[in-house]
This record gives sequence, structure tokens and C-alpha cells, in this order.
Amino acid sequence: MSDRANFGHDTTTDQVLEGIDLTEARALVTGGTAGLGVETARTLAAHGAAVTLTARNMVRGEEVVADIRESTGNQAVDVMELELGSLASIRAFTDAYLARYDTLNILINNAGIMACPHGTTEEGFELQFGTNHLGHFLMTNRLVPALLEGAPARVVALSSRAHHMSPVDFDDLDFSGRGYNKWAAYGQSKTANILFAVALDARLRNRGVRAYAVHPGVIETELSRHMDDEDRALINARAEQIGNWTLKSTAAGAATSVYAATAPELDGQGAVYLEDCGVAPIENESTSHGVRAYALDEDAAERLWRVSEELVGENFSF
Ligand SMILES: NC(=O)c1ccc[n+]([C@@H]2O[C@H](COP(=O)([O-])OP(=O)(O)OC[C@H]3O[C@@H](n4cnc5c(N)ncnc54)[C@H](OP(=O)(O)O)[C@@H]3O)[C@@H](O)[C@H]2O)c1
Repeated sequence: MSDRANFGHDTTTDQVLEGIDLTEARALVTGGTAGLGVETARTLAAHGAAVTLTARNMVRGEEVVADIRESTGNQAVDVMELELGSLASIRAFTDAYLARYDTLNILINNAGIMACPHGTTEEGFELQFGTNHLGHFLMTNRLVPALLEGAPARVVALSSRAHHMSPVDFDDLDFSGRGYNKWAAYGQSKTANILFAVALDARLRNRGVRAYAVHPGVIETELSRHMDDEDRALINARAEQIGNWTLKSTAAGAATSVYAATAPELDGQGAVYLEDCGVAPIENESTSHGVRAYALDEDAAERLWRVSEELVGENFSF
């Protein structure tokens, strides 16, 4: 039996879910074709959940589904197409999802991109903010009817310790004033992920839907596809400075998402940021752990909600 009191850096998905029965749960994992998303979908299915994963590349998505069905014996796993950089794709996906399923208990907003060259989404939003935040904002809000139907339900936003690199700059969301900086843009989008969890939790907590933000750790995945030698040197220097900054396995990397989605210890809590399978403290100085106060700020969360509604051209009042 897992020793839940001692969960930490190396705890794995299967340890988090030991003894937890998800056969009544329906889960949705965005970005289920690589890295943490594959492991998150696999472990939820292994413990009985019906799982939908999203993919941009449906061939790859079908391969992941086949692998999960075979390795877990759970046939209630499927894939649906979603491109978070397109509001039209998000709307088509949510319409299709709600036509197929009327409940959702676990939503893991996992898909993401990091430190890419400057680019824009289909509608012209800065690529990292548009994909990581605005895409999930629109998708999640359009799925709220299913979350309410499935309540108690949990929404987990994959953020990152990289949120330490930038608050949301409301005066220059798209970097047109500052000039594009790929790490500040990633940091801003990951702060936005936390603020969205705060605002969503405030709206839905009284109806049994709670929202969490997660730093999964540092895991070697395809996320680093845009990193160059200079980035790697910087990260290594930072790791040395911080000390004790070891890579996680994928199974340990996905563990905090799964913990946020299922841990009974979190019953009655929400709008918190987790790392290493536990709630992290507010920390405004350390670069090695914790959540910046600006990322949990309720006023900033409300402001971001309103700005995001304007940008996607849809209002959500629940
Ligand atoms: N790995 C880490 O060390 C680390 C650390 C902190 C936070 N995180 C966060 O953890 C999450 C998962 O990261 P990962 O390491 O598993 O990354 P990954 O291996 O690169 O996987 C990312 C997933 O997101 C999907 N995706 C990317 N852009 C998309 C878009 N526009 N629309 C729909 N799906 C899209 C990818 O699909 P394709 O296969 O089609 O590209 C892939 O399935 C991210 O949100 C990331 O910010 C990771």
C-alpha cells in the first residue's frame, strides 16, 4: 500500500492511484499523443476510467489509444481531434464531445508548447498564450455543462515552475510593446493557467467542480523541441544554482496531475497550485519551488477571465 503521507518528487502515477477505483469516472486529457499526456491517459484507464484523449495528429492518437487498450485491457478509451491554436477547431471539438458524452468528471488540460519562436494562432493570438491559455479557456468553459453533470468533478491545469518567469502583463499580452521573448511568453502563459484555475474554481466550487494548477516537475519530453544549445546551457546553469534539481521519469511527472485529479486529501480544496504530489506554498523569492503570489491573485484572475472572454468572443456565466 502506498504511503500517501510521504508522496513527493519520485512518486509515480500508479502509486498515486493505488487503491483508487475510477470505474465510474469519465476523463478527458488534452495533448494525449506525447509525453505526460500519454502516461496520464494510460494510468487513468488502468484504474478503470473511461478516457478520451485529444490529438492533432489522429493517426498518432489512434496508435496511443490502441496501446492503452492493449496494456490496460480497458476498451473505453478513445481519441478526438483538437487543435488548441484554432477557436474553430475548439468549438468543433467541444460540440462533438458534448454530442458523444454528457458527463465529465476529470478534465486534464495537459497540452502545451514551450519557448517556440514567435508565432500566432489561427486568430492571431501570440502562440504560447493562445495555445496554452486561451485554447484551454474556451474549451473548458464550453465543457462546463458536462462537468456540472459529472460533479463532483475536477479540472487540472498543467502549469509550470516557469510561471516564476513572468506574471500576466495585461498591458502587453502579445509582446508587441516589449518585443517577443520566448521564455517570458511561456512564463506568462503558465501564470495564466494558474489564474484560470483560480477563477474557474471561484465560479464552480459551490456546484462540486474544483480546479487545480500543477507543476509536473522537469521531465525529458518533446516539450523541449524548440530549445537550442543556449537554452540548454541556461537551464543547466540554473539547475546547478538551485541544486537538487533532478529530472523525473514520465510516470513521476504525470503523478501530480493525477494526484490533483483524484486525491481524497484535496476534497474541499481548490484554486491551489501543486508540485511533487502536494499543495505548494506561496513563494515570491525562491526559484526552486512554490507558487508566486501574483499567480493566485483573485483580482488578476478575474481580469484575465474578462480579457479572455473578449478575445475568444464568448461570455461564460455559470
Ligand atoms: N516536461 C516538462 O518538464 C514540463 C515541465 C513543466 C510543465 N510542463 C507542462 O506539461 C504539459 C505537458 O507537457 P509534455 O512535457 O508532455 O509535452 P510534449 O511531450 O511536448 O506533449 C505536448 C502535447 O500537447 C500537444 N499539443 C501541442 N500543441 C497543441 C495544440 N496547438 N493543440 C492541441 N494539442 C497540442 C502535443 O501534440 P502534438 O504531438 O500534436 O504536438 C502533445 O500531445 C505542458 O502543458 C507543459 O507546459 C511540462
